[in-house]
Amino acid sequence: MSNRSVLITGGAGFIGSHLAERCLELGWRVLTVDAFTNYYDPARKRANIQNVIGHDHYELIEGDLLELDLEPLLREVNVVFHLAAQPGVRISWDQFDRYVRMNVSVTQRLLHAARDLPLQKLVIASSSSIYGDAEALPTSETATPLPVSPYGVTKVATEHLAQVYCRSFAVPTVCLRYFTVYGPRQRPDMGFHKLIDRALRGEPFEIYGDGEQTRDFTFVRDTVAATVSAADSGAPGAAYNIGGGARTSLNNVLDMVGGILGQPVRRVHQGEQRGDARHTAADTTRARSELDFAPGYDLESGLREQVEWQSSLIGATSG
Ligand code: NAD
Ligand code: UGA
Repeated sequence: MSNRSVLITGGAGFIGSHLAERCLELGWRVLTVDAFTNYYDPARKRANIQNVIGHDHYELIEGDLLELDLEPLLREVNVVFHLAAQPGVRISWDQFDRYVRMNVSVTQRLLHAARDLPLQKLVIASSSSIYGDAEALPTSETATPLPVSPYGVTKVATEHLAQVYCRSFAVPTVCLRYFTVYGPRQRPDMGFHKLIDRALRGEPFEIYGDGEQTRDFTFVRDTVAATVSAADSGAPGAAYNIGGGARTSLNNVLDMVGGILGQPVRRVHQGEQRGDARHTAADTTRARSELDFAPGYDLESGLREQVEWQSSLIGATSG
């Protein structure tokens, strides 16, 4: 559909900026709202969108979703991708009111503004963190959410709000449970970003715990493909696991990055962090069947792209 107009909230962030590029490639009009929050350097977010700023079909609104008049914005589009949030599992013990405002209140405001509008789909970024230490691996969408971080609790609340507005007002919500996403533009607080940064600088990477924790790491372009597909094929009221299928331990990732850089990554062990799940693994049967989800990136090639991007960042600051 080339005459589609979409709103991307959090569109200057890591995943949102890739999503905006993909939507423009598809010939869609893209309206982005982003508050350039200071969770990490807003200059990075400006850099994330430098390829799309100035595009004829792209418009950026700088503002906070807690304050903007949302209904007129929603009237301009057919599809909403709601990615704006306060992410980060381990720091969510502090400043919980910020997590509640950014993840729960913002989502409710958006859903409430959408309740009488003829949207085709309202796709919401949820998270593997709702599962916590899941009862079974790989985990299917029917598992009972048992988050181990306050952040995860706010994402459970986000999903419940989506359900409530879908049932009571027929808002066509679809929740996507992203599993640890990586690739170029990854947030600087995330594991791969810190690990590659330290390795490139010859500094030790701080591993939380023994490094044998595993994640179902997902390359950002696979995440974006699933998100775009959900706009057409996602069933209203449904939730889907979006995991890359490359579940591996952090120790193994250190070895792979060492292999890419041609020298071992130095490491120091710190204590396990409260809020971290031990393992994540996505059962993606539902996404494969209903969203045609077929993750195409193996971990090694995805890591190479992220290493290349971070090398250019370091080159730019030291040059
Ligand atoms: P990000 O922090 O890079 O992007 C989020 C963007 O939202 C930021 O640019 C921020 O400025 C903006 N924002 C936050 N609050 C806002 C508000 N009130 N009004 C307007 N803009 C606001 O994060 P990301 O890693 O790209 O994550 C995107 C979404 O995916 C989030 O909902 C996150 O919880 C979810 N998610 C991410 C991952 C991952 O591995 N990165 C995994 C699971 C779920
Ligand atoms: C990530 C995102 O940060 C969350 O926003 C998202 O909701 C979540 O994925 C998800 O999948 O739902 P996380 O899995 O903790 O959370 O991702 P990373 O921050 O990249 O951490 C990956 C692993 O590296 C974790 O086991 C973590 O303990 C470890 N790590 C991270 C370290 O050992 N050292 C660090 O300095 C950072």
